[in-house]
Formats: sequence, C-alpha cells, structure tokens
Amino acid sequence: MRSLIDIIDLSTKEIDGLIETANDIIDNPAKYSEKCKGKKLATLFFESSTRTRLSFEAAMMELGGNVIGFSNAGSSSAAKGESVSDTVRTVGCYADIIAMRHPKEGAPTIASMNTAVPLINAGDGGHNHPTQTLTDLLTIHREKGRFDNITVGLCGDLKFGRTVHSLIHALSRYKNVHFVLISPEELTVPEYIIHDILDKKGIKYTVTTSLEEVMPELDILYMTRVQKERFFNETDYVRLKDSYILNMEKLQNAKKDLCIMHPLPRVNEISIQVDKDPRACYFDQVLCGKYIRMALILNLLEVK
Ligand code: CP
Repeated sequence: MRSLIDIIDLSTKEIDGLIETANDIIDNPAKYSEKCKGKKLATLFFESSTRTRLSFEAAMMELGGNVIGFSNAGSSSAAKGESVSDTVRTVGCYADIIAMRHPKEGAPTIASMNTAVPLINAGDGGHNHPTQTLTDLLTIHREKGRFDNITVGLCGDLKFGRTVHSLIHALSRYKNVHFVLISPEELTVPEYIIHDILDKKGIKYTVTTSLEEVMPELDILYMTRVQKERFFNETDYVRLKDSYILNMEKLQNAKKDLCIMHPLPRVNEISIQVDKDPRACYFDQVLCGKYIRMALILNLLEVK
C-alpha cells in the first residue's frame, strides 16, 4: 500500500501519469463520478487550511466517495494527548485513505508507518507539501504545455515556503529549467536545496533580491507569502512581510505570456488589480488542485 509523503516518492513517469489523468478528468468529469463509490477519505488537519482540505474533500465527493475527518486538532483526541500514531491507526479502521496536515515536520512519515491505508502528506511544517507541487505542475502544464526550457522565478519566503522546496525538487527533473530565486537575504532557499539539488544536478539558478531586475526573463512567476507561523519573533516578520508586492507597475516589463502563480493564501504579495490581468493564474491553480487530487486518490486506491 503506497503513501505520498514527499514529491520524490513519485517517479517522473508517475507524475506525468497523474497529470494525464487530471487532464482527462477535466475533459470527461462524468466518466469519473462513481469511481470511488463506497470509499471514504479521512481529512486529518492538525493545522489550518482552506484549499488543501476542501479540495481533497471536493475531489473525493466528485469521485462519488464520502469524507470524514476534522479540521482542527482541538476537536480531536489529540487535545487529550493522543499520539499521531494512535490517531491514524484508529482512523485507518474507518477510512480507505487519509490526507493529513501537521505542523511538525516528519509527522506524516511516522503516521504512514502506523496505518494500514494510504496516507497523503497535506503539508508538514516548513518541510513538504507534495500535493501543492502536483497542483503547481498541472497548472504549469496547462498554461505552458511543457516543463522543459522554462525560466521560473520563485519570489518571497523561500526559506520557510514548503511549496517552493517541493517545486524545485520536481522541476529539477526536467531539461533546461532556470530557477530565479528572489528573496530578502534572511529568507533565501535553504542551503541543502542549493547544495543537494541545484549544484549537484548542475541546474542553472540565479539568486537576487530584486524582482524588477529579473522580471523580463521570467516565464513563470511564483509568488509566496511570508510564513508568519514559522517565525520566532514578530519584529522580524513585520520587517520582512511586505518585501515583495506584485502590482501592475512591476508587470510592465514582464513577458506577455508570463504565468503568475501563488499557492495562496495571499496576504499582501499580489495586489488585487493583478487579478484581472490574463497572466494571473492563481485561481486556475486552485481549481487544478481539485483535479490533481482526484487523480492522486484514484492512483493510491488503485482504482482503474
Ligand atoms: N495552498 C495551500 O496549502 O492552501 P491552504 O493552506 O489554504 O490549504
């Protein structure tokens, strides 16, 4: 029985297969409407979420299945001191598949070893968020039709932004991807990503603090929120939170077919005026999240 903890659990062939299935679901939703009849998904969210939890639940419902779970740890027996292992072992008696978000890095790995059903990491601390990466890949594929030969700007909190780490992992498998890493000096990509992925694989990357300077080169601009919940002190957060605010003025030198992405939620990183620009893809990205999670549920439940 397989689980999905990290994007590196999936081969490139498996990622391509999930994207193909998601595109087929988009084109032929009726074909999939009863594929998970009689199956149950449990969503165990020990940390807040809008998109990930609700898209998982919508995904299972659109596959004809049912959903159980909790959206905050305080309403579960975790509040009485129950361990994550005991919680997932229990839930595995009621559900066919589990999607779990937890603030502690590594919690989904431990959980997956203690349940008999497939477990999907729906975000663990500042570590990994593999289904956001699959969402991002589907969005890029639908917008650009390829993963090769693209320049991807990653902007904002590249230190704590788990979606950025997983996306670098995934895109680094494809040919001629150039990463432009745009962040304040305090929020640069962790050294292990530079060393273990980019340098090791000989992937081209540029590090800068200036979004304006690199804007004309970008095919994709992936904006991120400064992760308030991961800061140790409020003063640093307040100083850094508005480092990059994308507005129409900053887009003046951007490519006409730039694809602007954001995993959301946004706080101030993208002005609402940008929402009307045809290059704004972040709400299409939200919708892609539901379809790719449908494809993933089918895959992990081995539904043909
Ligand atoms: N993108 C994302 O993970 O959003 P939520 O925190 O709302 O689930």
